[in-house]
Amino acid sequence: EEAAKIILKEDTSLPAAPKVKIGHLAEYRDKRVRVFGWVHRLRQQAQMTFITLRDGTGYLQLVLSGDLHKTLDALDLVTECTIEVTGELKAVPEGKTAPGGHELAADWWKMIGRAPSGTDSYASLFNEHADPSVRQRLRHLDLRAETPAAIMRVRAALLNAFRRFYANETVLEVTPPCIVQTSVEGGSTLFKFDYYGSEAYLTQSSQLFLETCLPSLGDVFCVQESFRAENSHTRRHLAEYTHVEAELAFITFDDLLTHIESMICDSVEYVLADPVAGKLVRELNPNFVAPARPFLRMDYKKAIEWLNEHDILFQDDDPAQPPRPHKLGDDIAEAAERKMTDILNVPMFITGFPREMKAFYMKRVPEDEHYTESCDLLMPGVGEIVGGSMRMTDLKQLLEGYKEHGIDPSPYYWYNDQRTYGTMEHGGYGLGTERILAWLLNRYTVREVSLYPRYPGHAQP
Ligand code: 4AD
Repeated sequence: EEAAKIILKEDTSLPAAPKVKIGHLAEYRDKRVRVFGWVHRLRQQAQMTFITLRDGTGYLQLVLSGDLHKTLDALDLVTECTIEVTGELKAVPEGKTAPGGHELAADWWKMIGRAPSGTDSYASLFNEHADPSVRQRLRHLDLRAETPAAIMRVRAALLNAFRRFYANETVLEVTPPCIVQTSVEGGSTLFKFDYYGSEAYLTQSSQLFLETCLPSLGDVFCVQESFRAENSHTRRHLAEYTHVEAELAFITFDDLLTHIESMICDSVEYVLADPVAGKLVRELNPNFVAPARPFLRMDYKKAIEWLNEHDILFQDDDPAQPPRPHKLGDDIAEAAERKMTDILNVPMFITGFPREMKAFYMKRVPEDEHYTESCDLLMPGVGEIVGGSMRMTDLKQLLEGYKEHGIDPSPYYWYNDQRTYGTMEHGGYGLGTERILAWLLNRYTVREVSLYPRYPGHAQP
């Protein structure tokens, strides 16, 4: 009853309170401010309510006391309510800690949006017994938790870091289409759909389009979603992922490897040097050590020998086949790759894969045409995070490539024109954003580092 009588009114005689994001509060010590956000944590005592408020830019501790603590709205406060608060920002006393080192002594507040209590409360949805499938179905709410939000923040910093690296290297950003009528990495993983009566696909890779930009714009890159209809329920496969791809003209294979190495090392360095993202990386992955240059480089043939020397066996896709030693021509499967990187425990390039294992466009090794100038970059704990190669420069060879891979060359007329109108040595690569993040943040699966992961059977939310 008493609570019903209390109506809070903002005191207009107080100094004006500018609207400030929590992340920018440092400059407002001992001033009056206005903040908006969600109740992240809540502790109600007899005389006071302690709130940790969240607005996406940070967390702020605030105290409601006196009448502010006694209103009907105050009785309704639960986590995930949205509120507006004004008050003076004070440094926390010596010996106490709070996010940002300050606390807001509220002089007025308002409920903007309520949230459920009881069994529907946010806390109950994510109790410790919640199944992973519950988390997945409630991804839109789980994103409000600290770890998923921290991961998304590092992800944004990493994408910024890539862009900064490319700007330094004079590589221009372009936006290739998602709707395509050519495959890049084989027909078996294409998502197909009806496109005004003809067949089209969701892009697997923007590589071929990037190649066409070289004579127009010079070196180019893109950050684009790629789609793979892979029925793999592994820790590192998604049906949709953010693909960072670049294409570079007039380079050698060695230049390509060095560029990829710099791209990874410089970008990681930028993220670690960022005051917010760097701190989050250290919190999420306390044992992270930035990789040292140069990366280990191992030829495919040497890698096959290495696997056999370490008794890492080849397992055929057909589980009825018993495991056997690797032989030349074998794919280095995910399990073998993991064992290898676990033992070596450093980033490593495997180079020079056999032609039949790789895509139609890859340049052949001049001294041994059965192999290609190709590379996979493997990281400890994750395996392959980058795939790249030098590209064929010669039209005749490219036409043979289509034939070898059983591809009809006619939809590729535009790609072939690259070799007709001023061909050149060039190469490029694709990096899986979710894979490098799984490595950087030591996450068990790429699903954790994707905003809304898509994998077999899941496209909601
Ligand atoms: O090795 P991939 O298939 O290479 C290409 O698509 C080239 N055309 C890229 C290029 O040269 N421009 O894919 C490149 C990278 C992989 O190393 C991996 O990191 C990521 O893309 N990737 C996936 N990430 C998540 N889920 C999947 N299903 C992925 N498939 C590939």
